Amino acid sequence: MKNRKLSLLILGVIFTISGFAQTGSKIQEVEELLSKMTLEEKIGQLNLLTPGGGVATGAVVSKNVEDKIKAGKVGGLFGVSGPEKIRIAQEYAVNDTRLGIPLLIGSDVIHGYKTTFPIPLGLSSSWDMELIQKTASIAATEATADGINWNFSPMVDIARDPRWGRIAEGAGEDPFLGSAVARAMVKGYQGDDLTNPTTMIATVKHFALYGAAEAGRDYNTVDMSKLKMFNQYLPPYKAAIDAGAGSVMTSFNDVNGIPATGNKWLLTGLLRDRWGFNGFVVSDYTSLNEMIAHGMGDLQAVSALALKAGLDMDMVGEGFLTTLKKSLEEEKVTEEDITTAARRILEAKYKLGLFEDPYLYLDETRPERDILSEEHREVARKAAARSFVLLKKEGNILPLKKNAKIALIGPLANNKNNMLGTWAPTGDPQLSVPVLQGLKNVAPNAKITYAKGANITDDPKLAEKVNVFGPRVEIDKKSSEALLKEAVQTAKNAEVIVAVVGEATEMSGEAASRTDITIPESQKKLIRELVKTGKPVVLVLMSGRPLVISEEMDLPVSILQVWHPGVEAGNAVADVLFGDYNPSGKLTATWPRNVGQIPIYYAQKNTGRPEPASGEFEKFKSNYLDVPNSPLLPFGYGLSYTEFEYSDVNSSSDNLSSDGEITLSATITNTGNFDGEEVVQLYIHDKVRSITPPLKELKGFKKISLKKGESKTVDFTISVEDLKFYNTNLEYVFEPGEFEFFIAGSSDNTFAKSFILNQ
Ligand code: BGC
Repeated sequence: MKNRKLSLLILGVIFTISGFAQTGSKIQEVEELLSKMTLEEKIGQLNLLTPGGGVATGAVVSKNVEDKIKAGKVGGLFGVSGPEKIRIAQEYAVNDTRLGIPLLIGSDVIHGYKTTFPIPLGLSSSWDMELIQKTASIAATEATADGINWNFSPMVDIARDPRWGRIAEGAGEDPFLGSAVARAMVKGYQGDDLTNPTTMIATVKHFALYGAAEAGRDYNTVDMSKLKMFNQYLPPYKAAIDAGAGSVMTSFNDVNGIPATGNKWLLTGLLRDRWGFNGFVVSDYTSLNEMIAHGMGDLQAVSALALKAGLDMDMVGEGFLTTLKKSLEEEKVTEEDITTAARRILEAKYKLGLFEDPYLYLDETRPERDILSEEHREVARKAAARSFVLLKKEGNILPLKKNAKIALIGPLANNKNNMLGTWAPTGDPQLSVPVLQGLKNVAPNAKITYAKGANITDDPKLAEKVNVFGPRVEIDKKSSEALLKEAVQTAKNAEVIVAVVGEATEMSGEAASRTDITIPESQKKLIRELVKTGKPVVLVLMSGRPLVISEEMDLPVSILQVWHPGVEAGNAVADVLFGDYNPSGKLTATWPRNVGQIPIYYAQKNTGRPEPASGEFEKFKSNYLDVPNSPLLPFGYGLSYTEFEYSDVNSSSDNLSSDGEITLSATITNTGNFDGEEVVQLYIHDKVRSITPPLKELKGFKKISLKKGESKTVDFTISVEDLKFYNTNLEYVFEPGEFEFFIAGSSDNTFAKSFILNQ
């Protein structure tokens, strides 16, 4: 015991004297520590466990965690929270092991810690990077107050398939926007100084291409050309790494035949050699062991493969812990392989300041002060309102009058259990504001009557599947007919109907893929009956993904998409419905007409036989017999209570030189009756390329605010850097020629102007 304390003390002194001295790319203090470590101690650092007790996010939880920590067999924990609890674990590591190396403490803080923000797909729809960064920094403040120093976020997987439930967790389909969001989140979590106890290490995940799972089925195989990877799917991971993300999590899927967790091309060739990543790589939950099921060999074989590929830390599966020594003896791995991985884990602990003070994140006075403060809840409310997308306006119903007679209907209208959204394991649904309460808070003079109207689904089997983390779908004792009747009766006495409908939170998220992404039939029926009353209807739509709402778009209803809005759900919905905030969100993933159109995204290629401009079917063209190619709702789309007009789309010159810049601009005028905000988007089309180019690519966006009647000119400065792409040799290049562009409030626009890029 004495010796251990002494060595920690000496380490502390070394660190204090030398500050953060680094020699070359290696940290000297870490090297000294490594030189003292036994093989077993090094392997112990590669082991990440979850003791359970909190929310288990996978099928198995770790056993005998306390003993393993004391035996030096654990490098980090996740799924534990609270400074008191974590202090106990940290004391085992510091006091009861030979070298007293502190633990990393991880967690999934995906969209807020206790102050739950909207689901990430919703947050991205705000197109407000400052706001997104702010939510991440609040999440870090709260999580670190609870003892956590390492976050399993941001999830930056590009997703173009709304059947995939985890589309909810990312920023949608576009690499440009996705990269901006990735940067904002990394900055929010990590701040400028990782030793500051309110910041934490960010983990970019899931590396890589998890969002391209075949058929939208979770964990499914991915086979993709390198051109598509580099140009469409990899940019957000790279952006997060360039922004300094300290760790990377591998994905469950295979990438072109080799599981990501054991894919050397991915984890070493691309990540380290090409991108220069110098943090550590952690597996996903038992993804190392799952390589056995992928067909890559037994646990010893897959563990050796993963270590050799560049995996540093093994989450939950204990493959490294139980097999690496044997593999070393059999010369399947080298001691250097193990030391390299251990070094990266120790460096992370060093960067966090844990060697200087293992209890840095364990201030028992912080939770009370830093978690769920009024100020944080205010940001959650603001973020939620800004994540909403007005999909359809019918008549002049919106915004509602604050003294209106409102029939509030729907299974999600007075429901706390479905407000937080998927992947909110640290949040408490019971703290959320349901829509009914929110309407009352914001408009105390409104006359609100409520009826449930329908179950989220009438299917008990589906209900059981989505109720894994608590009661999300509660099938009413009353019959569906009785619920419906009650709702229609309630509606008849009101001036306006607000129907809160959609998906339960766990109908999206991990292992929650759907092949039918319409609103469940029980609720569709309700919507039809409400429309039949002849009263104006506003649908407040909740979901974790783009839905197929072709039928609802054809009904005479207004539709406000609110995703799963987080802890301040009801207040934010009320802020928008009553016009205290004019909705400004824009879709970040395309909404298809039907599932048959999937995968569908705005940056489509032209093909050699493009669909006719009319959208009408033509034989021997690339189109469908039954629907046009265009989506129901395009990327970038979203309405406002006011109207915006775009004019004077211009470029500062007709020519751009390879070392110069050009300014592309447009004037936007608020021609409607309300002040409002608009996301101004720039799209460019490279007309001729050495590889087939997408028809348009987002290259800039700015969110502006315009008073009623006001005009503003918005500029985008473009250089060749913005026009580069990866060619067939995977070189990042620009090619001279003609570029068309437009500036608009949505991706479905026509090109206005062009410029020539000279050599
Ligand atoms: C998920 C990860 C998550 C991990 C730990 C996995 O099931 O895929 O996103 O970080 O569990 O909870």
